[in-house]
Amino acid sequence: MSFENIILEPHGKVMLIRLNRPKALNALSPALTKELGTALDQLEHDDNFAVVVLTGDEKAFAAGADIKVMKDLSYMDVYKADFITDTWERIRTFRKPTIAAVAGYALGGGCELAMMCDFILAAESAKFGQPEINLGTIPGAGGTQRLTRFVGKSKAMEMVLTARMIDANEAERCGLVSRVIPNDKLIEEALAVAQKIAGLSMPIVMMAKDAVNRSYEVSLSEGIHFERRLFHSTFATEDQKEGMNAFAEKRKPVFKNK
Ligand code: CAA
Repeated sequence: MSFENIILEPHGKVMLIRLNRPKALNALSPALTKELGTALDQLEHDDNFAVVVLTGDEKAFAAGADIKVMKDLSYMDVYKADFITDTWERIRTFRKPTIAAVAGYALGGGCELAMMCDFILAAESAKFGQPEINLGTIPGAGGTQRLTRFVGKSKAMEMVLTARMIDANEAERCGLVSRVIPNDKLIEEALAVAQKIAGLSMPIVMMAKDAVNRSYEVSLSEGIHFERRLFHSTFATEDQKEGMNAFAEKRKPVFKNK
C-alpha cells in the first residue's frame, strides 16, 4: 500500500497509521480521508493485522477538516458529494479495534476523528476542541453528538459554542480520553496496549467492541439483551473453551480466532 497523506507502519499484528500533512497540522483534506478509508478497507480484510493505532505527530493529531479546501465549496458541492459521510465515516464502521493516540491539537474534525476511534490515549500535550463556530459553521463529523455523549451536555455545549480547548488532564477528567501518557511515551504505550489486544481472540474482541458500541445506539434493556446474546454466542467458539480451560489449567491461552 502506498499513500501520500498517511504513513502505514506495521508493528507485528498492529498497524500504526500516521496522518502525514505536518505542514498543515494534519488538516483532514478529502485526499487524506480517502486514503485513510482505502487503508482501512484493506486492513479490514487482512488477517495479518488485528488492531489499528491512529496518530498524528507531536504538534497535531489533526487540526480539523481542511479549511482551505472547504472555504469555496457551495452547498450543492457538499450536499451532492455527501461531504464527510463519503469518506470520513469508514473508521467508525471498521470492525477491528482502533486506538487514537493523540498529541498536540485534535481540533474540529481532528477531535471528531479521534472520537470515532474506540478509545483515545492522550499525550500530556494534547488539546481537544471544536472551534468550528469561529469559522461560521458547526461541527460536521459528529462533534455535537459524540462529544455530548462522552463529556455531557454542559461541557460539550461550552466547547461547541465558545471554541474553548481543553487540555489532556481535563479531557481525562471528563471521560473524553481513557488515559494521559507522558509525551515521549505516547506511541510506545499505544502500541503496547494495541499488542495486548492483538494477542487476544479477535472474534471475541470484535464482539466486545460491538457490544460497547451498541450502548450508544439503543435503550439499556435492548443493549443488555444484545450483550447477553453475544455473551451466549461466545460459548460456541473454540477460543472461549481455550480461554477458560487455560485458566483452570494455570497456563496461558493460545487463541486461534475460531
Ligand atoms: N485546515 C487547513 N490548514 C490548516 C488547518 C486546517 N484546519 N489548521 C492549520 N492549518 C495550516 C495553517 O493554515 C498553516 O498553514 P501555512 O503555514 O500555509 O499558513 C499551518 O497549518 C500551521 O498553522 P498555524 O500557523 O495556524 O499554526 P499555529 O501554531 O499558529 O496555530 C492552530 C495552530 C491553533 C491549530 C491553528 O492552526 C488553527 O486554529 N487551525 C484551525 C483549527 C480549526 O478551526 N479547525 C476546525 C476546522 S473545521 C472542521 O473540522 C469541520 C468539521 O467538523 C468536519
